Amino acid sequence: MRPPPGPADTAGKQSAFGEAGYLVLPGLLPGPLLDRLLPEVDRWVDEGLRARSIECSVDPAANGLPPLLELEQEAHGELLAFPPLMDVLARLMGGPFAFHHLHSDRHDAQGAGKPWHHDYEPNSGADRSLLMVHALHYLGGLDETMGSLVVLPGSHREPAGKDALAHLGTAELPGEAVIAGLPPGSTVLINSALFHARRPAPGGNGRPRYFVDASYCQTGARWRPVKPYWRHMLARARELDLGRGRWPDLFDERHFTEYAGTA
Ligand SMILES: [Fe+2]
Repeated sequence: MRPPPGPADTAGKQSAFGEAGYLVLPGLLPGPLLDRLLPEVDRWVDEGLRARSIECSVDPAANGLPPLLELEQEAHGELLAFPPLMDVLARLMGGPFAFHHLHSDRHDAQGAGKPWHHDYEPNSGADRSLLMVHALHYLGGLDETMGSLVVLPGSHREPAGKDALAHLGTAELPGEAVIAGLPPGSTVLINSALFHARRPAPGGNGRPRYFVDASYCQTGARWRPVKPYWRHMLARARELDLGRGRWPDLFDERHFTEYAGTA
């Protein structure tokens, strides 16, 4: 795994991120925030709120709005615009950016992996120079019993379909980087166009993996939303003032196209 640059090394961070397409921020999230996030994830999963939000995404006509959004949970809302995260994002983006979506989940230790894929969404200008960044938060960290995140450094620079490598499953690829040992509260920022996979742990009998991912996109074109209720989501984020008045573009509808289903 490539060692992350030091916190003051802004130029180093930008160039490492531009070149490799990812940046590891070990222990970015403080303990008190994690202590509030973990029970929110448990509730989100155990009370069926996650399942309900998926139903509403799949069939909005039948299911309407979800009863609760991830970002309406207090600690999740705080995580979305956590100031140290936003500061790094602002430097990587080099300009204003908008919030795209937030997902929260708890993966069983025995769970299957996720094949190689990327998550870059199209924008109205078909402008691939505009950055989309996913923040992958590993609330309980990552160890060898939880499976690993594998990335293909540099792969974000070649245009490809999201599932162009899916036929390879989670197989080891030449040049890949394995991210398997992270302390609690670690975040991995990836260029959303970077190919990555979740490789299951052999045996897989460890602790569950608490995983929250949030994505952000550089302004300059209109981005494709992934949730049919995206306007409601942005409106609730504005009402809750999750950006604390600091990020005027973060929840602005003008950065999005109409919802057109899943890709
Ligand atoms: Fe992904």
